[in-house]
Amino acid sequence: MVGLIIKETVVHKVLVARATFPDIIDRLRGYFEVQDNPEDEVWSPEALSRALQGKAGLIATGSERIDEALLAAHPQLRAVCNMAVGYNNIDVQACTARGIVVTNTPDVLTETTADFGFALMMAAARRIAESEHYLRAGRWTKWRYDMFVGPDVHGATLGILGMGRIGQAIARRGAHGFGMKVIYHNRSRLPEATEAQCGARYVDKATLLREADHLVIVVPYSPSSHHAIGAAELAQMKRTATLTNIARGGVVDDAALAQALRDGRIAAAGLDVFEGEPHVHPHLLEVPNVVLTPHIASASVATRRAMANLAVDNLIAALGCGPDAGRPPTPVNPEVLKR
Ligand code: DGY
Repeated sequence: MVGLIIKETVVHKVLVARATFPDIIDRLRGYFEVQDNPEDEVWSPEALSRALQGKAGLIATGSERIDEALLAAHPQLRAVCNMAVGYNNIDVQACTARGIVVTNTPDVLTETTADFGFALMMAAARRIAESEHYLRAGRWTKWRYDMFVGPDVHGATLGILGMGRIGQAIARRGAHGFGMKVIYHNRSRLPEATEAQCGARYVDKATLLREADHLVIVVPYSPSSHHAIGAAELAQMKRTATLTNIARGGVVDDAALAQALRDGRIAAAGLDVFEGEPHVHPHLLEVPNVVLTPHIASASVATRRAMANLAVDNLIAALGCGPDAGRPPTPVNPEVLKR
């Protein structure tokens, strides 16, 4: 009698830490046993660790801290796929040491995030939020020639700190759309051809601070970029300048910024990210000349879908499934894949 040999396939268990589009969860269910979080509870580290029991893969957002303690408790974990381009919530070195693949979502959010950064900069410069609050409060009783005057954006000097993909996309908007003079500072200078495409000129940090009419911060968070803009840097800026932060909380010293805004040390700011978010420094809430948004720079429907789909593509491939098995499209630590 010929025996029937059934090939055993292991169906991995995976965790999706925060709510996302239901059809994207369905895509994952085609490959894995999925635990998701449709109520979008924000789990404590202990609750996250409990949910991660027995899971080979995790789809995370910037809100989940993936550190050595969590990894040590979950030796079965094989892949952490962040639904964000930034990954300062993940201890990548610890993941690499354990052979865990880490992925992020670059490229798909570049233009959307640059649009938002530009909008926030314009709102700060042209006092859009401040004047809207004034109008809604019923305080607009007569028009005045100098109501809510602010600095121009077109033709001004745009300073960019951090010239990765998003910085370059903001530079292109400034140079080619608004006739701005664009200067930037970055860890390393870009190739000349890229500078020419962006219409941007490399300068040292002191020149950037001194010359920018509108400074946009797009540098990733790391211990070396912690408080890259603090009281000393703000003191070097023009009194008429604006500052926009769409990078990460912690790159700007929020307390020092609130003080500079209160003292009129700079004209205005636009902030989408905060130290310790969703907590916002109380002094920032008190000053009128700052536009505050809740970390939504990449939040267009198409881009949020693209980010979620890319995170799913990464997880499917990282766990050895699908057409790209073993080759996740956007790994942060590709060295793990070569082992
Ligand atoms: C990112 O992708 O890093 C955005 O800040 C959303 O977290």
